[in-house]
Amino acid sequence: MSTLQEKLTQLQQKGSQDIKAASDLKQLNDIRVKLLGKKGPITEVLRGMRDLTKEERPAVGSFANKVRDALAEVVDQKKAELEQAKIEQQLATETIDVTLPGDQPKIGAHHVISQVIEQLEDTFLGMGFKVVYGYEVEEEKYNFEMLNMPKDHPARDMQDTFYITKDVLMRTHMSPDEARELEKHDFSQGPLKMVSPGRVYRRDTDDATHSHQFFQMEGQYIGKNVTMADLKGTLEFAIRQIFGEEREIRFRPSYFPFTEPSVEVDISCFKCNGKGCDVCKHTGWIEVLGAGMTHPNVLKAAGVDPEIYGGFAFGLGIDRFAMLKYGIDDIRNFYQNDVRFLTQFEKRG
Ligand code: DAH
Repeated sequence: MSTLQEKLTQLQQKGSQDIKAASDLKQLNDIRVKLLGKKGPITEVLRGMRDLTKEERPAVGSFANKVRDALAEVVDQKKAELEQAKIEQQLATETIDVTLPGDQPKIGAHHVISQVIEQLEDTFLGMGFKVVYGYEVEEEKYNFEMLNMPKDHPARDMQDTFYITKDVLMRTHMSPDEARELEKHDFSQGPLKMVSPGRVYRRDTDDATHSHQFFQMEGQYIGKNVTMADLKGTLEFAIRQIFGEEREIRFRPSYFPFTEPSVEVDISCFKCNGKGCDVCKHTGWIEVLGAGMTHPNVLKAAGVDPEIYGGFAFGLGIDRFAMLKYGIDDIRNFYQNDVRFLTQFEKRG
């Protein structure tokens, strides 16, 4: 036996002993690296083969490989042994008390405003309207100009505005999406029917019924031969979906720059059924939204010919809908994120 082979035999004996003596997985790994790694003694022996004759090399080489494989095998066995021991130890020491009460995860609630938005979206989708989402930071052009509210128009004062620059602002209503969609729509493909829900901003002092930010939904239907009867039928259907089948609606004349004629829409009181109560301030009717027949100037500004196309638009306050529907008397509740408030409206199951 050559001296190299002797050296290898010794390495194998010593190595096996060390491996078997390892007390944990970390130590075992250190031993493995030291013994079998690139800087280890076996690699060194293999390097020393340079000095052997051609005839000696194959025998020593294959012997070295055998030693390495044998040691690797011992490492694997030891590893399995240590892992098993670890599991057994865990089983012996860690017990689970299945009778202890569990941790109840805190589940958030689907916001009541989101619920009303979804109900409205479903209702209008069902009538063939599409849902679009515009921009909270909007151009003055879409928020006012294209809606028949040129600069210095008194109606701009009705909506006290947060300006970002002279031409850019926080949208004060959802009507800019009307102008945007009108401008984009290809009427050769059919009428435009859309709703757009979203957050709007106004410089207002917050109190029980005012908030500097709230939610609206805009809707419009522009095509050929769209009439005020279509407006009434559409709103009546939507309102019955939200406030119950028995609801009646009525129109009262009003003014908005973007519609002519314009109307204010009331629903018959759902609490007293029209008899008069505190919710309807003893009138039997509750004002819920503004609407009208789209002004020809709005169509023209978007490049739509008012001689051929026309239709209606409406804008409703989502917060107001939610307050009425659920009997909430302070709009600030929606924005304070108090879970005790928010979880009351969550449908469970
Ligand atoms: N943009 C109006 C507002 O914020 C709401 C509105 C009223 C929208 C009448 C309309 C409409 O499209 O026809 O007060």
